[in-house]
Amino acid sequence: MTLSLHLGRIAVHALRCQYGIQIHLAVAALVVAQALLPCRAQAKDQPRERLSFNSGWMFTKGDPQDAEGKLAYAKIKDWVVQTGEAFLKHPEHAVPAKPAGDLGADVAYTKPDFDDGAWRKLDLPHDWGTEGPFKQEYPGDTGKLPWWGVGWYRKHFNIPAEDQGQRIFLDVDGAMAYATVWLNGKFVGGWPYGYSSFRLELTPYVNIGGENVLAIRLDNPPNSSRWYPGGGIYRNVWLEKTSPIHSDLWGTYITTPEISSGAAAVLVQVLIANQSSADATVSVKTLIHELNFAGQKTYVPVASSEPVDAAIASGNSVTCKMKINVINPKLWNLKNPRLYAADVMIEQNGKIVDSYTKNFGIRTIKFDADKGFFLNGEHVKLNGVCDHHDLGPLGTAINTRALQRQIEILKEMGCNAIRTSHNPPAPELLELCDRMGMVVMDEAFDTWARTKNRNDYGRLFADWHEKDLRSLVRRDRNHPCVILWSTGNEIGEQDLRGNGKQISEELTRIVHEEDSTRQVDANCDNPAAGFNGFQKTLDVMGFSYKPHLYAKFHRSSPEIPFVGSETASCISSRGEYFFPVSNNKDDGKADFQMSSYDLYAPPWATTPDTEFKGQDENPGAAGEFVWTGFDYIGEPTPYNSDVTNLLNFSDQEEKAKMAEELKKLGKLKVPSRSSYFGIVDLCGFKKDRFYLYQARWRPDLPMVHILPHWNWPERVGQVTPVHVYTSGNEAELFLNGKSLGKKKKEQYQYRLRWDDVKYEPGELMAVAYKDGKPWAEAVTKTTGPAAKLVLQPDRGELHSDGVDLSFITVSVVDKDGLMVPRSKNRIKFEIEGPGEIVAIDNGDATSHESIQSKEYNAYNGLCLVIVRSNAGKTGAITLKAQSDGLESAAVGILTNPGNYPIGSPDLVPVKPAIDPLK
Ligand code: GAL
Repeated sequence: MTLSLHLGRIAVHALRCQYGIQIHLAVAALVVAQALLPCRAQAKDQPRERLSFNSGWMFTKGDPQDAEGKLAYAKIKDWVVQTGEAFLKHPEHAVPAKPAGDLGADVAYTKPDFDDGAWRKLDLPHDWGTEGPFKQEYPGDTGKLPWWGVGWYRKHFNIPAEDQGQRIFLDVDGAMAYATVWLNGKFVGGWPYGYSSFRLELTPYVNIGGENVLAIRLDNPPNSSRWYPGGGIYRNVWLEKTSPIHSDLWGTYITTPEISSGAAAVLVQVLIANQSSADATVSVKTLIHELNFAGQKTYVPVASSEPVDAAIASGNSVTCKMKINVINPKLWNLKNPRLYAADVMIEQNGKIVDSYTKNFGIRTIKFDADKGFFLNGEHVKLNGVCDHHDLGPLGTAINTRALQRQIEILKEMGCNAIRTSHNPPAPELLELCDRMGMVVMDEAFDTWARTKNRNDYGRLFADWHEKDLRSLVRRDRNHPCVILWSTGNEIGEQDLRGNGKQISEELTRIVHEEDSTRQVDANCDNPAAGFNGFQKTLDVMGFSYKPHLYAKFHRSSPEIPFVGSETASCISSRGEYFFPVSNNKDDGKADFQMSSYDLYAPPWATTPDTEFKGQDENPGAAGEFVWTGFDYIGEPTPYNSDVTNLLNFSDQEEKAKMAEELKKLGKLKVPSRSSYFGIVDLCGFKKDRFYLYQARWRPDLPMVHILPHWNWPERVGQVTPVHVYTSGNEAELFLNGKSLGKKKKEQYQYRLRWDDVKYEPGELMAVAYKDGKPWAEAVTKTTGPAAKLVLQPDRGELHSDGVDLSFITVSVVDKDGLMVPRSKNRIKFEIEGPGEIVAIDNGDATSHESIQSKEYNAYNGLCLVIVRSNAGKTGAITLKAQSDGLESAAVGILTNPGNYPIGSPDLVPVKPAIDPLK
């Protein structure tokens, strides 16, 4: 993670000397966060501190023997539901009375004097599931990794005496799942939904001026997820200290109600809590700064509010509103995602009692039923992907650089939108999307009350949906990247049974109450949902794999905008091609891999081309969100015996057919642990499909891509079809210099096909044309045998913060440096210097090798090594790779404390010197 992103989050540490002058204390904050020294490193008059609370935790799996299951959610629910009451507005959701007693006081791990010295020491974020091992007998739908069960975390820390009178809060960005928290042996609260961020107030239990012990219990029930959820405190954790009078968590809401080219009205609403014992009168003021692309504020504010006074009774909260005019606003858009920072200061009796910064953007959005989506009045086709939260071999443990790399790869493809399927994302994702110019559909749930899995969110929905949804919207509503809220994915209640209509209306109302500036959709797979009245509960209709319904829907509900909120679901394995090439989308299977001709999809889904046609025929369609951008752990359709696949069918006959197929597949010993849906594989290596989307989504980029590879010694003389993806509109294919003809894309054709090419070794060349003029060329050659290894880091310099990562592509190449496409050589790695290998993978969905292993097989020529810097140590890291019979390779990476700005829009994605597919 680079420091500049920390600045975004820790900007609240600005030490304000007087209005308009400030000193960032981000560095000091990070240092303090490491040690939490009893003495405060910061000025006494600084009213608010936000400290990283990630380091120095103790961890163990399982409950103490005499307390197994004693703290299971079902038994302690009445205590846990007390948390988050502030998010309940609907009287019917009122929480029951707090039970008497001291929850968990008799459980050893909650006790402050329990000796946890034998536990494992670790830093957060942490995902215990990816520590493995992968096991054949574990369920493939959740990745054959052991993510379930109970885990305990404990942290010992000091709170200095100077904090007397401060309010102390624990902020957890995400913990999987059913978190319950004790401080110094006292139960503080809990939050079951593993994807929600939550705050617990520690003040009543904290020992000021002495040692404190925090204990967090997590519990992942089996059968609670349709994909790999991870297990552990997998996102960042913070300790926040404020004055008794302070702005509430997510209590700052910034909107831009009027925007013209000359000026923008910015409305800043601040919910101020008075937790002091006396009534108070405060004065609030906001200054607005521009942010540059490195996320730094301009020195002089561009606008400021008049001070607004408010009287707040003890124990109450009041919302203060400030309307500020920004002259000549710089609009946030996809190419130049300009951001502003609002510095909010709350003063009482001439003294600043709270001050912090919130970023926002100035932009307009609109969904139009006839024309699609508009950003700042300009039509933007949503070229989006759905993504799960895991980061491939890194599992679910959040890492900002890993996310940033994903977004870089997506942007290179021309992707401009991400759907956070099917849950609230890490806050860092939205910060990156704000900075890098990517819009987001922010999704809340995979189920409502009707479950998809025995122990999934369905069992929490009644007690928690209002809290989870309101907290999501409050947390994320200042991000300009968020353009749409999704209340759910393929929800059972679309058929209106089980109060489907009422529930959907309620969820839409909750979102509107929290954010009046954006619209609500849900991803609907049930064809009835577009016509049975369910569609009227949404502002924007989201279709799951239904391009054939767009026109019918638009005719019957001409006033409702619509989007392909989940599309395609094409399945393929990087670098695998099976013959003869069939056009039947059910085919393409062999060896638990999927052929990469991009013609195959599960029965409910379509090829990319079918969705493209649906979009092109229906200008009202706002765009699409392809399932998925990246491969993810779990859900290895079609090689799962995963009954949840059946949920995709509302047609009973189709469902029965699939059940039969699953029965057949289930008899096999299926090794698959990760998905085949990604346009990009688990390691971030591009599959062929990347170029099919790039050709469509970046029409101005001259490009042409050939598939398959051309190493088929066993196919000499046999038909080996060649497909070409290009942003041009025609291409000529040459085999060993001989033209195989020129082909032109007809209407609704998105690829060029030479289906009768007979294989002979040598060179394939495609020359693409656009509007009759030469446009781009590509060559694919038959390679020689594997001769050497090549290491290609995505970045040669790392921040020495113990978090930053280098992703090193390892290629098996021939003597001329051409990647040998079918090579599977075993490679051993060694590392020296101030860094460590955190994960290795090869993108093979059937690999069960430990990601912590130091040796790995290449998969179709490639392998990925992820190296992390060591905290506070600078110098050169050397990674060495060695494989029997091949020339070895080594690469150096420097680590230093420099500040690398992330997410600048002019950031050019680093192209590996060796394109994985060429
Ligand atoms: C959809 C579902 C996704 C995923 C996908 C696979 O129906 O919303 O979560 O399961 O199918 O095609």
